[in-house]
Parts: sequence; C-alpha cells; structure tokens
Amino acid sequence: MRVLVTGGAGFIGSAVVRYLVREGHDVLTFDKLTYAGTLTSLAPVADSPCHRFVKADICDAAAVRQALEAFAPELVMHLAAESHVDRSIDGPGDFISTNVVGTYTMLQEALRYWRALPAPAQAAFRFHHISTDEVFGSLGAEGLFREDTPYQPNSPYSASKASSDHLVRAWFHTYGLPTVMSNCSNNYGPYHFPEKLIPLVTLNALEGAELPVYGTGENVRDWLFVEDHAEALVLIATQGTPGESYNVGGASERRNIDVVRTICAILDEMVPDAAIGPRESLIRFVTDRPGHDARYAIDFTKLNRELGWSPRETFETGLAKTIRWYLDNGAWWEPLRQRYKGQRLGLETPATGDKAPAGASAKRLGLAS
Ligand code: NAD
Ligand code: TYD
Repeated sequence: MRVLVTGGAGFIGSAVVRYLVREGHDVLTFDKLTYAGTLTSLAPVADSPCHRFVKADICDAAAVRQALEAFAPELVMHLAAESHVDRSIDGPGDFISTNVVGTYTMLQEALRYWRALPAPAQAAFRFHHISTDEVFGSLGAEGLFREDTPYQPNSPYSASKASSDHLVRAWFHTYGLPTVMSNCSNNYGPYHFPEKLIPLVTLNALEGAELPVYGTGENVRDWLFVEDHAEALVLIATQGTPGESYNVGGASERRNIDVVRTICAILDEMVPDAAIGPRESLIRFVTDRPGHDARYAIDFTKLNRELGWSPRETFETGLAKTIRWYLDNGAWWEPLRQRYKGQRLGLETPATGDKAPAGASAKRLGLAS
C-alpha cells in the first residue's frame, strides 16, 4: 500500500513509518522538520527503497497537492502537529496554524485529490486523522473517556486538536471524504523528544540533574507504548469504518510522581552512580502547570471488540525498554539536548511569548479594512 505520513519525522510518526516500511508498504514522509522533527528518527529506513521524504509544511497547499499527485497515496496518515501542552501555553499561535489551519489544508487537498480518483480507488482511499484524548478534558477519580464523551478541551493544545477533529468530522459528513480518526493517551518509548515527562526525567536523572514534578505529582496519565500505538494506528487506518473514531489506550494509569519514582528506581539499578546517589533525591515539586488536567484514562473497548487490538506492553516492560533505549542511543538524543536544554516551559502568558498564526492577520480575517 502507498501511505503518505505527515509528521513522520516526529515521535509517533516515525514509529508509524518504521512499522509500515517493515511491513512492506511504500511510504512518503511529509514533514516540515520543526524543532520536534529529526531525520535521525528515520535512520532505520533511510536506505530502504520503500521510503521517501519531503520537507514541507502542511499549511502549504501547493506542496501538499504536489505530494498527493506525485505519490498517489492509497492512505494518508495525518500526524503532523505541534504537540507539547507547555509550549502551547507559551505560544498558541503555532498550534492554531499547524493543528487547525494545517489540518484544514490537508483535508481540502485530500478531498480534491480523492474526487479525481477512479471509483474503485475512491472507495479504498482513507484519510486517518491522529488525535489525542486531551480533547475530552479532565476526569475526576472515576470514569474513562469513551468515543462519545463530550469534548471539553482545556489547553491551547487540546483546543487546537479538538478543532481539527471537528473539521475532520465535517469533511466526512459534508463532502463524503472517507476519514477515520483516533484519540489516544500519552505515548512513551524510543525517539521521544526530551521535553515530555518520561524522556526529560530519564535524561535529567541519568545526568544527576533535578527532576521537576508539577504541583503535587498527583495528576494521572494513561501510558501507551509508542510501538503498540503504531500497530493500532495502521489497523484503524486500514480496517476502521469511515466516519468513526477509535480510542487507543495503554491500560496503564499512573500518577506522575509514581512514574518519576519508577524511572529513578530503574536507572539506579541499570546505571548506579555513587556520585549521584539514589535518584529519588533529585525530585523537586515545582509550580504547577496553568490549567493542569487532573486525570486522563481511556476506554478502548471499541478498538478491542471491532478490530481485535490490545496493547502488548505493560507499563513496566515498556518503560524498561524505553530507558534501555535512551542508555544505548545517546547519539540520537545528545544533539536534541543541545537544541532544548530542559528549561521550564509553560509558565509564560501568551501576551509575552506568542506570535499570531500564519495568515491570521486582521485584514485576512476580514476584521480590518
Ligand atoms: P511530535 O511533536 O514528536 O512530532 C510532530 C512532527 O510534526 C514533527 O516531526 C514536526 O516536524 C512535524 N510538523 C510540525 N508542524 C508541521 C507542519 N506545519 N508541517 C509539516 N510537519 C510538521 O509529535 P508526536 O508526539 O509524534 O505526535 C504525533 C501526533 O499524535 C500529533 O498529532 C499529536 O497531537 C498526536 N498525539 C500525541 C500524543 C503523545 O503522547 N505524544 C498523544 C496523543 C496524540
Ligand atoms: P507531558 O509529557 O507534557 O504530556 P501531557 O501534558 O500531554 O500529558 O506531561 C505528562 C504529565 O507530567 C503532565 O501531567 C505534566 C507532568 N509534567 C511534570 O510533572 N514535569 C515535567 O517536567 C513535565 C514536562 C510534565
């Protein structure tokens, strides 16, 4: 199958690309290579005749059109996004540009491309939009997010993803574009940019630096091993029902403080360091994230019942694999740690750090003469 993957140089996208190429598919990675994208995540497929790469922006309609026409995909998997909640607090503009306007551009160009296909190819074509459980808001101590849970996004990031989900839904209902959608919990695993909790804490703890835990560390996330997620995504893209959405979860709810303590314990065992001592002593409770969602948890019964998927890794096996990977792959993360040194993000107000989304001038929006 020919698959165009947007955001394929990012964390989850590169796992999807590596998986697809391993399974014998032809893949075109379409990625702007922002701070979060790196071709080193695609090194395992760099020499494969089944993989091609184009550096371009999903907001650039002409570039999207050219990629679709030249590559002629049977499936588009749309993962390109600005993905970090803390950065969305400091600067929401890029999130509106890429996640909302970029998804709109992808939908418009996919629709144009799909309409020109012969009928059998039209029937087989799918546009898979990859989204997050954060669109559903925050849970209390009880309950799980289901596919029909009302949307209540709380951060600029989740609001931008919720917007994109609504656009995808509308392009299915209004224009008949055969879309499928999935909303997943927090991913972790190899090739994760070291701004997110698990890789940040792993690398800080390895180096003996402080481990910032927001608030009291009681917030709960469900953790999904990225390679399990990649497998689920390909299943949803190829066997999911158009117009439907599927939740994907790891069945691994943990409080942040317990995640951090577990990472410390694994590192103490794998790489004891007398100069650092027990790594738990590096934990620091720091100012909470503004609007910090209390708990995310996923009901993935639908995906299990309809498509037979469940995660292969437990949190313990997945985390041990992940930490081993970081210990063995300094060549991947050292250049990224130069680019982003782990400073605290997400405490700024938009007024101090933001820039307007591309193309959103008052004039273009018809608000100024
Ligand atoms: P990531 O930040 O690691 O990677 C994003 C990729 O998109 C990068 O390679 C970047 O260069 C590319 N990109 C960004 N803006 C672009 C643009 N305008 N044009 C083209 N490419 C662009 O993100 P990720 O963690 O791999 O997330 C992938 C998708 O999964 C996103 O849509 C995200 O919202 C969703 N998601 C992620 C998680 C998670 O835990 N990481 C959870 C739920 C959903
Ligand atoms: P993160 O990895 O940013 O994912 P998300 O915000 O999408 O869930 O954060 C996971 C959890 O860890 C979240 O509750 C915020 C918290 N956190 C910390 O406590 N310290 C940190 O340094 C980071 C980056 C996150």
